[in-house]
Amino acid sequence: MRFFAHRGAMADAPENTLLAIELAIRSGAKWIEIDIIAHQGNLLVIHDLTLDRTTNGSGWVKDHTMAQLMRFDAGMGQRIPLLEEVLNLVAGRVSLNIELKSKGCAGLLAVLLTKPIFSALKPDLLVSSFDHNELLLFQKSCPDVDLGLLVYGVPLSLNAAIGVLKIRSLHISAEFIDEPLIKEAKAKGLEVYIYTVNEISHLNNLKHLPIDGVFTDHSQLWLGYYKIQ
Ligand code: G3P
Ligand code: CA
Repeated sequence: MRFFAHRGAMADAPENTLLAIELAIRSGAKWIEIDIIAHQGNLLVIHDLTLDRTTNGSGWVKDHTMAQLMRFDAGMGQRIPLLEEVLNLVAGRVSLNIELKSKGCAGLLAVLLTKPIFSALKPDLLVSSFDHNELLLFQKSCPDVDLGLLVYGVPLSLNAAIGVLKIRSLHISAEFIDEPLIKEAKAKGLEVYIYTVNEISHLNNLKHLPIDGVFTDHSQLWLGYYKIQ
């Protein structure tokens, strides 16, 4: 069972911050999931296109300068990280799942990953998105980087959802567990991950399914799981 520290295990520290990621790593996370959006040539690690929910700023990210954005508090004195900072923090320590949240992420990420320090990013990198066109753009630039297809709901056709993407994994919502879909994905050789699972009882309910892992907000979930193995 693989556990992704969702937004850096957001129940333990402010989501998508360096602090959350560091704490998740220290709690034994092997995979970290983060969200990125593109802004003025930069990749910001933030889930929403607006500032209100996760920072002391308000309004659209796009309506602010980088200098303004870097001054907002994302909780516990943390600021919105740049993707480079997260890459530097995790490189050689844990694997990373980067979720592309806005148009423009694919191109900027492709450029960033050509830099020597980031080409050595280990142990594992997985790029995912609900925006399958953005994934396709990224695939064209970085065909060797693993992709995860995010879906919300049950696609009418898995083949159609995948299209020409070469994906490693299918990421499905815990609200829409569909056993035939999971089995079809497994038959195609895909890894299947469920977002978001926060209770051991919920995890136990999913045990009969051939899934490979879950996204969780709580480090306690993987710590509890490892304890009983
Ligand atoms: O990548 C899985 C999950 O993070 C997708 O939903 O809204 O938490 O980014 P969300
Ligand atoms: Ca996410």
